[in-house]
Formats: sequence, C-alpha cells, structure tokens
Amino acid sequence: MQKLSIEGGRRLSGVIPISGAKNAALPALAAALLTDETVRLTRIPGVVDIRTMAQLLASIGAEVQAADNAYTIRSGGALIPEAPYDLVKTMRASSLVLGPLAARCGRARVSLPGGCAIGARPIDLHLAGLKKLGATIRHDRGYIEAAAPRGGLVGGHIHFKRVTVTGTEDLLMAATLAKGETVLENSAREPEVVDLARLLAKMGAEIEGAGSGTIRVQGVDRLGGAEHGIVPDRIETGTFLVAGALIGDELRLEGANRAHLQAVLEKMEQAGCEISAPDDSTLVVRGGAELRAVDVTTREHPGFPTDMQAQFMALMTQAAGESNIVETIFENRFMHASELQRMGAHIAARGNRAVIRGKTRLTGADVMASDLRASACLVLAGLAAEGVTRIHRIYHLQRGYERLAEKLAAAGAALELSEE
Ligand code: EPZ
Repeated sequence: MQKLSIEGGRRLSGVIPISGAKNAALPALAAALLTDETVRLTRIPGVVDIRTMAQLLASIGAEVQAADNAYTIRSGGALIPEAPYDLVKTMRASSLVLGPLAARCGRARVSLPGGCAIGARPIDLHLAGLKKLGATIRHDRGYIEAAAPRGGLVGGHIHFKRVTVTGTEDLLMAATLAKGETVLENSAREPEVVDLARLLAKMGAEIEGAGSGTIRVQGVDRLGGAEHGIVPDRIETGTFLVAGALIGDELRLEGANRAHLQAVLEKMEQAGCEISAPDDSTLVVRGGAELRAVDVTTREHPGFPTDMQAQFMALMTQAAGESNIVETIFENRFMHASELQRMGAHIAARGNRAVIRGKTRLTGADVMASDLRASACLVLAGLAAEGVTRIHRIYHLQRGYERLAEKLAAAGAALELSEE
C-alpha cells in the first residue's frame, strides 16, 4: 500500500491539462456491449476504475485494446453476460453492464455491488427499471440475475423515485434495444448522461431529451459502431480550481468545460475566489484573495455536485466565517471532516450537516483517505498546510484522478509517493 507525502506551502502556477471524465468513460465503455461492431473511445482517463471496467469487458468476452487514452472495444463474439464478485466488489459502477447485457444477450448475472464508505448505495432503482422493460429479476447468493422476455426487452414508462446517475445510464442503454418507446422520467441530468446519449446516438440509437430530466427512447433492432471523445472531467476541474484558490499564484486549466461547472463556479466566486474564463475550455484561477464563508447544499445536477463537497470543505477551512455544508445525496460523506480536524480545522459534523468555522491554520499530519473525493480533499488541505502531510491508503485517489500528483508537481507542489 502507498502513501502520498505533501510538503505544504508551495505556491502553484502554470498550466494543468484536464483529463476525460471517469464518470462518462465508465458508461461509454459499457455501451460498447450493445453492438457487435467496433467502438473507439478517446480521452479515456488512465485511472484504476477504467482498467477495472476494461477487465470486466474482457471477462465478458469483448476484445479490448487500450493505447494511451484511447480504447477500442469489439464485443462481436459469444459473450458471457456475467460480472463476477471479485471485479464488482472493487468497483460498484460495474452495475453499468447490467442494462447492456440484458438488452444485448437477453440475460445478465451481476454481483450486487454492496455498499462503500460513503453509503449503502443500493441498485434497487436499476432493477425496478429493468422490470418495467419486461425483465424478470432473481436474487441468487449475492448475485442479480436479470432475464429479458423471449423476444427481448420491451419499451416501458420508468419513473425514478429518486434521481440516480448510473441508474439513468443503465436503463438508457437497455432502452436503446428495447422494442417500442421507453420514457425515463425524473432521470439524471448530469453532463455524463448527456455524453452517453451522444455516443448512443452515434451508434444509431434514437434518443430525445437527454439532460432535461425526461428522456424518450425509440428502440431499434441493432446498434452499430462509433468513435467518440469523452467529455472533460468537471470534478477534476473543480478540484484544481480549489487548489488554485487555496495556494495558487495563477493556475491555467486547459481542456475543461466551464458550462459543466456553473454551480461550483457560482459558490467559489461568492466565496471570493478569483476565477476567469478566457474561453469555454480554459479556466484561470488566482490565489491569495481573502476568502469568505458560504453555505452549500449538494444537489443533483445542475445543483452543487456531491463529488465536489469534500474539496469545498477544504476550501472553507481557509474562509473567514461560518460555512454550513449540507450533503443530500449520500448518507455518510463527511469522513474527510475528522481528518481535516486533525490538521487543525474547526468542523462540527452531525448527520448530513457540517459547520466549518474558518479561517484556521492547517498543519501537516498523518491522515487517512477513505474514498475518492475525501482523498482529494486531503491533498488540497496538505497543499495549503504548514509542514508535511502524509496521506495513507492513497489508492483511493488513484481510482479516479489521472496523474494528480504529477500534474500538481508540474505546477510547483512538493509531493512524494512512497510505500507504507
Ligand atoms: C454516480 O454514482 C457517480 N459515479 C458518483 O461519483 C456520484 O457521486 C453520484 O453519481 C451522484 O452524483 C459514477 O457515475 C460512476 P446515484 P451513482 O445512483 O450512480 C441512491 C465519484 O466520486 N440510490 O446517482 O452510484 C444512492 O444510494 C463517484 O466519482 C438508490 O437508493 O449514484 C444515493 O443516495 C462517487 N437506489 C443516491 O440515490 C439506486 O438504485 C444517488 O445515487 C440507485 C441510487
């Protein structure tokens, strides 16, 4: 196991390239199961979760070639529509193969993902949606077995009782090959859902309303191959914006998409961060401004993203005043708070509300990463702290950020990855 040591206080400047979005790449890879033709995806981030998904596709029987940040997938031969426990337990987004396999092969056997640090994370909404498309669902010793009717899935009206990102993506993919029309109501509006719909349309799917909250799909008999570039990672972008606001002179983020970050930009500007956008794919953040405490409640897109909550909490430790952060998406997403307290932050976290009283001097300490975004929060705090911070269990970070330490080092940070 590795740890990341950070010597805080080094000011950051220069250009940071933004990678493709992990949470757009994962459903895009799963979508390749919907056709026997070749799908080529570019701007795929080199992160552990992507390699896990590639392993899963190969175990199902797809041919997967990866070169730099491009993946070529062809699932033309006989497929084994199963996602084994040993893969799913390391990456719960494996449930994204459920819909494509039920649609393409008529059946799927996928291990139930189980919970993770931030919550129970059931997939009941995915299963309820598949039933609406005519599938029968069986629980068998920790596995879900979905079976389509003999003639294949049939279009239906699905109303999500709560917004689910991968639930929307799973059922959007299944619906593309279901007979007739499918309506997905109260669907997720995330940019990653819109990006998936764009890929599916390139493959021949007939989709309307992606990003609007109600998606209509006319099923087709088959889908073809396509080439598609993944959208930039809005959460990586937001993470570097916070780094620049905390300890930057001037950081220039290139290859971003400003339109995907409106809620984050609004809150950061309210807090006094100096951010400008020379064009739609570039953001420039300057540090040094006196920061003000602002309140944040996480919401589904286009609201403030839960995946930026931990990073924003790190920022609020350096803002003057009292900030209230309310987490409405996951039931246990404040584990970074106790680690920040060990670095000197004043945070009272109770239930889904955390109150941060800043501005406090942060000092380097040994801290423990618990999940992907909590790890990012601790990196940000380490950059701003006095002295050395050692972040243990740093594998969490490597699941979802491409070369984060390298990108920060190139901008002037002092970090070192070492064995525990
Ligand atoms: C996606 O997870 C993202 N992952 C998460 O990013 C992100 O935090 C989350 O959406 C919310 O934006 C990927 O896209 C791979 P949900 P997902 O289904 O789809 C409950 C990261 O850091 N729910 O939108 O799993 C669920 O428990 C990760 O990159 C059900 O109750 O999230 C949660 O409370 C973390 N039943 C809420 O809905 C279901 O069937 C939202 O979950 C599905 C979800």
